[in-house]
Amino acid sequence: MLSLSTLLILWLTVACRVSSTILQNGQVKPTSYANTLVSLSSRSFTTYPANATEISYQGRWDSKHVSWWSAPGLRFGYTGQTVAISFGNWTSNGVLVAYRIAGLDWMFTNVTTGGTHLLVSPTTPGSASYPRTFELRVTNWALGVQIDAVHVAPGEKLVKLPQNSRRIEFIGDSLTSGMFQSYEGLSGWAYGLGAGLGNTDYSVTAYPGVCAADQNCWGNPRGQVHQWFYTSDTSSRAYAMYGDKPEPWDFSKRPDADLVFVCIGTNDCNAVNNVTSQAYTDALIKIIQGVHGKWPNSQIVVLSLWLGFYKYQNWWYPSAPSCFEKEVYQVYQSFNTEAYLQNPTIYDGMTKKTSQTGNSAKPFVHYFNTTGIMQHNDINPGYHLTDVGSIKIASQLQQYVKLQFGWEFQATGPEVYHDTTYWNDEATY
Ligand SMILES: *[C@@H]1O[C@H](CO)[C@@H](O)[C@H](O)[C@H]1NC(C)=O
Ligand SMILES: *[C@@H]1O[C@H](CO)[C@@H](O)[C@H](O)[C@H]1NC(C)=O
Ligand SMILES: *[C@@H]1O[C@H](CO)[C@@H](O)[C@H](O)[C@H]1NC(C)=O
Ligand SMILES: *[C@@H]1O[C@H](CO)[C@@H](O)[C@H](O)[C@H]1NC(C)=O
Ligand SMILES: *[C@@H]1O[C@H](CO)[C@@H](O)[C@H](O)[C@H]1NC(C)=O
Repeated sequence: MLSLSTLLILWLTVACRVSSTILQNGQVKPTSYANTLVSLSSRSFTTYPANATEISYQGRWDSKHVSWWSAPGLRFGYTGQTVAISFGNWTSNGVLVAYRIAGLDWMFTNVTTGGTHLLVSPTTPGSASYPRTFELRVTNWALGVQIDAVHVAPGEKLVKLPQNSRRIEFIGDSLTSGMFQSYEGLSGWAYGLGAGLGNTDYSVTAYPGVCAADQNCWGNPRGQVHQWFYTSDTSSRAYAMYGDKPEPWDFSKRPDADLVFVCIGTNDCNAVNNVTSQAYTDALIKIIQGVHGKWPNSQIVVLSLWLGFYKYQNWWYPSAPSCFEKEVYQVYQSFNTEAYLQNPTIYDGMTKKTSQTGNSAKPFVHYFNTTGIMQHNDINPGYHLTDVGSIKIASQLQQYVKLQFGWEFQATGPEVYHDTTYWNDEATY
């Protein structure tokens, strides 16, 4: 049964997008969303360009205001009862975006290349009440939007929102990007942790199929040890736009992340990709050294990896005895020796140069053991998390972040995970 399970894990994190049926609690999920497309020429608005300082972008966006990686978004305040967005030519046609007014539930719409979408109007529930803030997130990791302009009602304006006081970065593959979850990035554990903590900006730098090691894995030409330093991801969308010359990510654009979660290696671990234990270990070390070089004060949490389960006779077993379990733990240990902390090394991913900082450091690398959180039905038949599996990881990590780093929970009620209100209202059975 080991070879069968090895075959099954070949499916892990294959970066392809095919039209398929989304099941939600065993039911086919409706995927017809409100049509919000309007004709720009037939309306009058007060219009702001994509680089307006009132708009705060979340996650990675390039200099053309094109979004990359998983669950990138934007936020702003506005006056009046109208918000419309014109999407540029680099928008993936039909990409599903989630958007909401302040703390109301997420709404969804498919947006069109070059189209203008009216997202808030006087008939939108909540548009007459306060606060009037707006947030948008792209749900799919492979697709993206380009912001061309943001419109409000004539004579009204955009308002810059105060920054969230905390920041989290996620570095991962499909398991972190939300692949195969019902709202993809917006049902993933990374989004769930960032949004669930409240008052936190989060950036999910994760892409399906990508390895830690810098090599082609499942069609991703580069590994995270390289790509994390760049704005765009390893999708064909990115290569169509930038070839092999993506924009470097400008780390000075945003405040440093306080916490960084590194969950990468399930693709390296797959025999198909031929990544050796040594190559994986080197890449993971360099990723951590790279984060420490860019953000010297970030606390970095390395997650142990998980795969799936297979059934043998009357029990479910982990489908592989370990996915670099020893390596991940040893990397964590190597950052916590006296020798290392007295003379920590940083890695500059842009030039592939490794240099000594010479400054001693306090321990900044932590290990989070995921073993035992998921059971077989928290992983879908395609070896990715179910929505519930994601919620379990996010919840466990939320409590861990509180206990380990003293972060108070600051979310106050608005939904995090959409379409998860399953309850029993049979009072009289
Ligand atoms: C926005 O872009 C325009 C056109 O490139 C430029 O003139 C303007 O200064 C920019 N505004 C900001 C706030 O960067
Ligand atoms: C999109 O393409 C059209 C046609 O080539 C062009 O007129 C328009 O300026 C482009 N818009 C953006 C935002 O690049
Ligand atoms: C809207 O997005 C969903 C989710 O990606 C997709 O299944 C559906 O086909 C899209 N609809 C349109 C009209 O593009
Ligand atoms: C992995 O190595 C084997 C044996 O050396 C080789 O046949 C195969 O093509 C390699 N696969 C990849 C993806 O490089
Ligand atoms: C992770 O947790 C599992 C289950 O409790 C345990 O067997 C394993 O030894 C732990 N790994 C490490 C490195 O602590």
